[in-house]
Amino acid sequence: MHIITVDPHRPDLDALRPAADVLLAGGLVAFPTETVYGLGALALNATAAGRIFDAKGRPADDPLIVHVRPHWDLLQVYAAVDDTMQSLIDEHWPGPLTIVAQRAEAVPGVVTSGKPTVAVRAPSHPIARAILDLVGQPIAAPSANRFSYVSPTKASHVVADLGDAIDLLVDGGPTPVGIESTIVRVDRGGLTLLRPGSVTVAGAVVDDRAGSSDSPGRLDVHYSPTTPTQALPARTALSANGPGILIGYDDSAPAPDGWRKVSLGSRQDLESVARSLYRIVREIDDSAPEQIVIEFTGEPGIGEAIDDRIRRAAGNQTAT
Ligand code: TXA
Ligand code: MG
Repeated sequence: MHIITVDPHRPDLDALRPAADVLLAGGLVAFPTETVYGLGALALNATAAGRIFDAKGRPADDPLIVHVRPHWDLLQVYAAVDDTMQSLIDEHWPGPLTIVAQRAEAVPGVVTSGKPTVAVRAPSHPIARAILDLVGQPIAAPSANRFSYVSPTKASHVVADLGDAIDLLVDGGPTPVGIESTIVRVDRGGLTLLRPGSVTVAGAVVDDRAGSSDSPGRLDVHYSPTTPTQALPARTALSANGPGILIGYDDSAPAPDGWRKVSLGSRQDLESVARSLYRIVREIDDSAPEQIVIEFTGEPGIGEAIDDRIRRAAGNQTAT
C-alpha cells in the first residue's frame, strides 16, 4: 500500500491527484473524514464498490455509506429529495449526518446490499471534500477498519487493520470528531434515528430494534475490541475482580485494587472524549490486558453517541 501525507487544513490538490486517479481506475483509497477514516471506492461502479467488502471482510448484507458534495445533483443517488431531506441537508451538510432514503436506480445493489434505500452523507473534512471534487462522482466509504473492529481515527489504525488490502492511504492526521456520523432514515417525512452521533436531529425517533436488519451496523458485535470488554454505569464505583483496565473520566471513582484507571478526559468536554475514545481503546486493546471496563458518560447529546459506542464495544455486557 502506498501512503501520501497531506495537510488536513489546506490539502494540496496535486498531492491528492494520485488518490483520485486510483479511485477513478476502480481502486481502493482510505482517507480521513471529519468522523473517522473511510475506505473509498467509486459508488456507481459495482466492481469497485464490491472490492470494499473483500478488503474489510465485511458481509455483503451490510450496506455502505455514499459520500457526495452537497451541491451535486443528488438525484444521482436518491430517487427524490423531499422537503424533510432538504432541510436536513441545508442545516447539516457538509457535516457528520448521514441521510437514508429511497435510492436512485444508478446506485448498484452491492452498495445498498439490495435495499431500496441508500445512506448518503457530505463530509466536511477538507481532504474528503477535495478528493470528491477531484473524482467528480459519489464515493462509497465505510469506516476503514476490518469488519466489526473499532473504527480508525488515525492513519496507523488503517495500516494495522487493512495493510496491503488497499491501494492507497491518505494520511491527514487524527480525525477531528472521532466517532461515526449520525444516521437518520427519512420515510414519508418521518425521521428515524438509526445511529446516534455528534449531530443531534430534532424529532428523530430512536429505532431501538437493536440488530434490526434495517441497519445492520446496529448489531452488538460492532466496534468491539479483541480483549473481553464490559461497560460500567456512569458515576459508579467498580467492584469486579481485577486485573484489568478501567477506562473512565477525570471525575470517575478511583479504580479498585488490581485495576489501572485510564481517563478519557473531562465529562465536561465530551467532544474531546469522542475524539480520543477509539484511539485509547485501540491502544489499550493492543497492550492485551486481561479485561477492559469502560464507564458510560451518562450525559445527553454527544454523550449518548459515545455511550452507544461503549455499549457496542462491550457487546452489551455490563460490569458491576
Ligand atoms: O462517519 C461515518 O459515517 C463513516 C465515514 C467514513 O463516513 N462511515 C461509516 O460507515 O461509519 P460504516 O459502513 O462503518 O457504517 C455505515 C452504517 C452501517 O452500519 C450500515 O449498516 C448503515 O450505515 N447503512 C448503510 N446503508 C444503509 C441503509 N440503506 N439503511 C440503513 N442503514 C444503512
Ligand atoms: Mg464501520
